[in-house]
Amino acid sequence: MSRLGVLTGGGDCPGLNAALRGLVARAQRGHQAEVVGILDGWDGLMEGRTRPLDRDAVRGLLQRGGTVLGTSRRDPYVHGEGGPSVAATLDREGLDALVVIGGDGTLRTAARLVDEGVPIVGVPKSIDNDIGGTDFTIGFDTAVQTATEAIDRITTTAESHDRVMVVEVMGRTQGWIATHAAIAAGADAVLVPEEPYDLENIAAVIRGRAERGHRYSVVVVAEGIDPPTGTSVVAPLDAFGFARLGGVSTIVAARLEELTGFEARVTVLGHIQRGGVPTARDRVLATRFGIHAADLAAEGRVGRMVALRGDVVTDVALAEAVAMPRGIPREQYDAARFCFDSTDR
Ligand code: F6P
Repeated sequence: MSRLGVLTGGGDCPGLNAALRGLVARAQRGHQAEVVGILDGWDGLMEGRTRPLDRDAVRGLLQRGGTVLGTSRRDPYVHGEGGPSVAATLDREGLDALVVIGGDGTLRTAARLVDEGVPIVGVPKSIDNDIGGTDFTIGFDTAVQTATEAIDRITTTAESHDRVMVVEVMGRTQGWIATHAAIAAGADAVLVPEEPYDLENIAAVIRGRAERGHRYSVVVVAEGIDPPTGTSVVAPLDAFGFARLGGVSTIVAARLEELTGFEARVTVLGHIQRGGVPTARDRVLATRFGIHAADLAAEGRVGRMVALRGDVVTDVALAEAVAMPRGIPREQYDAARFCFDSTDR
């Protein structure tokens, strides 16, 4: 009987538990394989902290947010010596393959370990939807839904008070959440890291709306945009070396207040976008990804990453996927801009 290890690494997101459930069901029923859960991401692998994951252990997990395995932002190449720092756990547990459910930092580390001979299958998860090789990552749909509902609520209070509401969403250096939530909620402008912006233009949109009788506006700001010219935001680094983002919307709001004369307020949605129950779409995606990962691992097809292409779950080379992070396509950003420029809600 083969044995598979699984860990969840990096920031959590809704749908991780559904992926674990799909993986375990497929491994046990489809491949007669045992699954060992590694606790707290790479940390648990370096420190040998594991727990058995059988079907009883994953019962009831479909709807549950977060990850029952725990996660961390520690890394064997930063806090250990790469491959050798995880070898003891792989040997002790007799693991034939390891399934790594992670975002770009975790999967990049996984790709390096594959180069050192560690048999890994990757599963892309991230509310940011920024991983190459796949159309969607686990958690993105839920984050967009949460952000959209929040913006809907912010819009009604904006209207009552004749205010400009600036809503900052996560997404790191990619504008996926910002663009999709802005389209879905009918925001009046969106600022994303991939596209240059001019606050004078945004102010003109806000003034134009006021002239047409709409004395309020909602502006969605991706946390990773460059701060307005002449300003800066201090961002400490996390364990993967990523900047800990947040706060740029405060500067944007102050500028828009100056430029338009409307009172501006800021809402930073933050980790609320990562919490709570997954949407139906994320539950389905995560289940299908978990099943495909179990198949790849059981068949020894390591060095691959599960991916969604169109409506088909397939797999791509892990090294290639992590080498090409994915920003919001121009066509989607343009779709958002077209609506802002041409409609009044
Ligand atoms: O990568 C997922 C993400 O939620 C980003 O959107 C965000 O910038 C970051 O993680 C926050 O990380 P942390 O939970 O470490 O504050």
